[in-house]
Amino acid sequence: MTDAECVAFLRWALPRLGMRWAGFRRVRRQVCRRMAKRLRELELSDPAAYRVHLEAYPEEWPVLDGLCRIPISRFFRDRGMWQALAREALPVLAAGTRELRVWSAGCASGEEPYTLAILWQAELAGRFPDVRLRVVASDAEPHLLERARRGLYGWSSLKEVPPALRDAAFEREDHAFRLREALRSGIDFVCQDIRRAQPDGPFGLILCRNLAFTYFDEAGQREVLDALTARTAPGGALVIGAHERLPVPAPGFEPWLEARGIYRRSGP
Ligand SMILES: C[S@@+](CC[C@H](N)C(=O)[O-])C[C@H]1O[C@@H](n2cnc3c(N)ncnc32)[C@H](O)[C@@H]1O
Repeated sequence: MTDAECVAFLRWALPRLGMRWAGFRRVRRQVCRRMAKRLRELELSDPAAYRVHLEAYPEEWPVLDGLCRIPISRFFRDRGMWQALAREALPVLAAGTRELRVWSAGCASGEEPYTLAILWQAELAGRFPDVRLRVVASDAEPHLLERARRGLYGWSSLKEVPPALRDAAFEREDHAFRLREALRSGIDFVCQDIRRAQPDGPFGLILCRNLAFTYFDEAGQREVLDALTARTAPGGALVIGAHERLPVPAPGFEPWLEARGIYRRSGP
């Protein structure tokens, strides 16, 4: 399968899955590799044959949907955002509350919610000893959640972790790093497709980075935004990815630390 064949196929298929080609341009090789494997399994010669197959067997669409999930993540991804969150947003969100509820949507193998737990422990727990951090982390991929629960990572996932935090948060295990049990225990991992189900709110903080606002089409982005708006507590915060934008208009949110992708719930 050539790159051009795969691209032509994705341009046809992605809108039918409620996704947009622009989000996949840079990561398409990953999807094309998986698709090539699927074609071999089905003994199909090329994407044109796969298209005929999808039209004949609609039950194949969810399989293709799964092939289009991009699991890329790492601890402290976009460090500037985490710094702004820890220094400026979290102290405001934690003030005057006994429990800060957080939802990490599209959490991959746990790198994002665990980064929050590490930062909380290192920089905020001492200042807010009476505040309990409770995190729900969701993803549509069971095998990523399984990995998240194990809490075992290779070096490439940890490259951006400041060395002092890395030593405090992880134990060496052969050639891998295991997140310490105390940091793993406060996180509840759930398998959910964000288009069909979301955890119950309200949340003081929602992280929805590098998922809906990158890969979903306009209608899908709006539906997710409505669900996030409904689940963010008054005065709570929403964080999106460094290269993402909220759909316009987004009346439920106002810029807070906008250069870092951090918004604040406005209105009722
Ligand atoms: C690119 S990763 C982003 C991980 C993390 N949020 C970050 O920014 O590093 C996108 C994640 O969203 C998950 N995902 C994709 N489609 C999803 C859906 N419809 N519902 C829930 N999770 C989904 C993927 O399995 C993947 O783990």
